Amino acid sequence: MPELPLIIMTHPLPPDWTRSLKGRVRLVVGPADYAGIAPHLVEKLGEAEGILSLLFDRVNAEILSKSPRLRVVSNMAVGVDNIDVAGCSLRKIPVGNTPDVLTDATADLTMALLLSAARRLPEAAADARDGLWKVWEPAGWLGADICGATLGIIGMGKIGKAVADRATGFGLKIIYSDNQQQTVSKGTYVSLEELLMTSDFVSIHAPLNQSTRGLLNERTLKMMKKNAILVNTARGPIVDRDALATALRDHWIAGAALDVTDPEPLPPDDPLFTLPNCLIVPHIGSATRHTRKRMAEMACENLLAGLDGKKLPYCVNPEIFQ
Ligand code: DGY
Repeated sequence: MPELPLIIMTHPLPPDWTRSLKGRVRLVVGPADYAGIAPHLVEKLGEAEGILSLLFDRVNAEILSKSPRLRVVSNMAVGVDNIDVAGCSLRKIPVGNTPDVLTDATADLTMALLLSAARRLPEAAADARDGLWKVWEPAGWLGADICGATLGIIGMGKIGKAVADRATGFGLKIIYSDNQQQTVSKGTYVSLEELLMTSDFVSIHAPLNQSTRGLLNERTLKMMKKNAILVNTARGPIVDRDALATALRDHWIAGAALDVTDPEPLPPDDPLFTLPNCLIVPHIGSATRHTRKRMAEMACENLLAGLDGKKLPYCVNPEIFQ
């Protein structure tokens, strides 16, 4: 019997999420707590025919050059900014991702962050727990009004649209900017500048690429309204971290709610953690039981299809099959 193909799974996943791999591959699994591809896995790249990666594992030119037998890269994420897709395409290696399944979960978390930051839930909850809730304070813990405010969505893809659907129900007026104007049922297209200058809430839903890296920087953060709250559930490096810390400390804007940071994880001594107007959660946009399980299953489907030499069901470089 021929030997089963060797697969590098960069981090452990629950066995019932990866059941389809049983008996089909030989797995080498990395540690749960190592951010990246662990050194002992790198040593195995020479034999590996597939990589099942998470969104913070860099499958870059160096990793590809060490992987002469690689036939598929399957990323358990919709974003593939951690993968050298162009390098994979040059070598005819298909790259898989996990689109659509996380749209609702990410849009839900976006609304949770927006509402929490607007109504200052983390501060209010901490004060209640710490015994600072002495009386019903008429002017205590005042937050921002939602109904009637304007939400600016940067990137009107599937997640942006799902956020617009939800936000409309809260009475928010939607404007959006995107690299292409499109017909959307909820929202009016505006330039990025107009969006930043007129939104009470700004929510980022664009992929990380050369044109979005550092899009929110000193210049653009200064365009935002002083009462504005920035929500980022897309990718950390879209926002310049130092400029954001200054913007929050010096009150160029009122607050930020971040599911993603640069770097990830954010070191515990990062200045952003010291700012009361900055709410940070650990990249949990897709963290619902169903969503994460389905993402893993889709990643396995992509992996097995690639090993079989078939078109991946969810492929970011399908042109390599032509
Ligand atoms: C993705 O899949 O790209 C998301 O960021 C995961 O939450």
